[in-house]
Amino acid sequence: MKRSFASDNNAPVHPEVMQAIIDANHEDYVSYGDDPYTKEASNLFNENFGREVKVFFVCNGTGANVSAISHLIRPWQTIMCASTAHIHNDECGAPEKFTGSKLHTVPSEDGKLRVKQLEPFLHSVGFEHHAQPGIISITQSTELGMVYTPDEIKEISDFARKNNIYLHLDGARIANAVAALNISLEEMIALTGVDVMSFGATKNGLMMGEAVVFLNPELAKDFEYIRKQSMQLASKMRYMSAQFIAHFKNDLWLKTASHANRMAQLLAEKIRHIPQVKLTMPVQTNAVFASIPPEIIQPLKEKYYFYVWNEKNNEVRWMTHFQTTEQDIDDFVRALEDLL
Ligand SMILES: Cc1ncc(COP(=O)(O)O)c(C=O)c1O
Repeated sequence: MKRSFASDNNAPVHPEVMQAIIDANHEDYVSYGDDPYTKEASNLFNENFGREVKVFFVCNGTGANVSAISHLIRPWQTIMCASTAHIHNDECGAPEKFTGSKLHTVPSEDGKLRVKQLEPFLHSVGFEHHAQPGIISITQSTELGMVYTPDEIKEISDFARKNNIYLHLDGARIANAVAALNISLEEMIALTGVDVMSFGATKNGLMMGEAVVFLNPELAKDFEYIRKQSMQLASKMRYMSAQFIAHFKNDLWLKTASHANRMAQLLAEKIRHIPQVKLTMPVQTNAVFASIPPEIIQPLKEKYYFYVWNEKNNEVRWMTHFQTTEQDIDDFVRALEDLL
């Protein structure tokens, strides 16, 4: 069996999540979310966010991002994000297609945005020839595996609020960020002023399903129509909701994410001493970025799945997930050392 360090998406479904799907598979229930599983899962979001939020289950992360952003933006407004953002690089232009809006990217080495990079966009405000700042989208944890502290998020949200801009957070790997900082969702999201987030769980043990979470329920008004128009309304929603119930039960989501993060730390520790391998990013969550000699990339790829992140400096990305074991890490490091 070829193990994967390519993406946490390559992991199987967590057995407790799979069991929850099976357990939900016995009776008839009303479709499209009017079922007890969806109600229970929505309540669990309220509990975890420490307040009443509005939750909408959707089919995938791109759908979560695009529908959430479409809801809060007008076509003449811009979406500001880091140059590394998934919405910019990996959604096939869906945000632009569905919103009709312009994406404005800001260069970023670690995937984070900073207020001083956003301030220049204010020069367009009120000038009819320029698209108007509408939404800032940040990713937590970032595409480079880095985490924003709550203070950093708050600084961006204060800036956004002051300038009538909404703040969206792409939380495809929110669990890894919460586990890394060891704080609650309330502290990270609800109290920092995020308006809407895409809550990811597929990379952390679900078969499929993500959620759009509005922190201010009033902002969610009419979102159900956007979800439907965006083709993100699942008829058999109970199977998605049942997965979220298992996800939150006994803090499974944090246990799986903490484990994935720990495995990335272990990998980083074990390769740090290898002179030909250079870590290119601090390891804060479940991603390890390193540059390695180009001649070993292909032979290593024959043994393990992983991606080359940047061909210019032979930088690769190795990701861990809830099922990565210490043995996997040892075997991988041995394979790496053998090739060197
Ligand atoms: C940062 C980020 N956002 C969103 C997504 C969601 O993507 P998908 O539409 O494949 O579920 C991903 C998946 O790789 C991601 O890495």
